[in-house]
Amino acid sequence: MKTKITELFNIEHPIIQGGMHYVGFAELAAAVSNAGGLGIITGLTQKTPEDLANEIARCKDMTDKPFGVNLTFLPGFMAPPYPEYIKAIVDGGVKIVETAGRSPEAYMPALKDAGITVIHKCTSVRHSLKAEKIGCDAVSVDGFECGGHPGEDDIPNMILLPRAAEELSIPFVASGGIGNGKQLVAALALGADGINMGTRFIATKEAPVHQNVKDALVKASELDTRLIMRPLRNTERVLLNEPVQRIMDMESGKGDAMTIEDIKELVAGVYPKVMIDGEMEAGAWSCGMVAGLIHDIPSCQQLVDNIMNEASEIINNRFKAFA
Ligand SMILES: Cc1cc2nc3c(=O)[nH]c(=O)nc-3n(C[C@H](O)[C@H](O)[C@H](O)COP(=O)(O)O)c2cc1C
Repeated sequence: MKTKITELFNIEHPIIQGGMHYVGFAELAAAVSNAGGLGIITGLTQKTPEDLANEIARCKDMTDKPFGVNLTFLPGFMAPPYPEYIKAIVDGGVKIVETAGRSPEAYMPALKDAGITVIHKCTSVRHSLKAEKIGCDAVSVDGFECGGHPGEDDIPNMILLPRAAEELSIPFVASGGIGNGKQLVAALALGADGINMGTRFIATKEAPVHQNVKDALVKASELDTRLIMRPLRNTERVLLNEPVQRIMDMESGKGDAMTIEDIKELVAGVYPKVMIDGEMEAGAWSCGMVAGLIHDIPSCQQLVDNIMNEASEIINNRFKAFA
């Protein structure tokens, strides 16, 4: 399939694997890129810029196809040395960066001077327009359904995507809640030029996470995610478990008086325990509503092929029957 996104990133299929903390290692990024999509290494999962340089080198050993690095911009007080991470990306010859979190504005000159294509992930039309204005090449429009941080506007993709299409001049991919070919076709119909998936890619053979995590996704339904940390204006969609229930109880008890200190042990340092050790009750971890559509653990190649075959069947057969 040829879209503005496949052209921009020089990939076969308009399918991106979004950066995911303690999931987006070289193994997954390479598997997605080898399957014809765009795999992305999660920059900050690597504890130092040197570690990121090694991870990029490992990924290059596993694929000749384009792949990217995610840089998530955290609030100022906990900022890692971003210029050094960017240097590791540039020196590693990576030409695609997915930015997320805060605006990448301060780092755009460094990225663009190095000839890097930047796709910024954001959760609203106004942030997408800002990304366009500061020179991002594309945006990933992340709807309310998404795993991770959906922002505070709560606009689902059925509205958010056509609104983005009304306003944006740069290409965008639909992100959040997507896991199959029907949804790829829907995203294209709503004005996107491709899709970005997080949660769906965790339940794949190559995702380097504990089997318990993959099994939990297959078992979960669309009713099993919850939003936490809204009182902190840092809303996150996570899979319901006992620690998440405790966070929600704390939120209803303390309301806006709640601070990060109140829930720190339930949200900080959780990812290695869940993703690597398979401790499913270690704390809160991001998961999207698309869990309800995850029924198997295919290879990345099978997943991408299934999505593309389903999309092509809909476009070529189902739609033709309506015409
Ligand atoms: C376990 C997990 C960890 C994530 N970590 C990050 C991250 O570190 N940085 C980031 O920009 N997005 C992160 N995301 C968001 C994804 O890149 C993607 O935008 C989101 O998962 C899309 O929604 P979906 O899960 O419904 O496909 C994470 C998502 C999940 C499920």
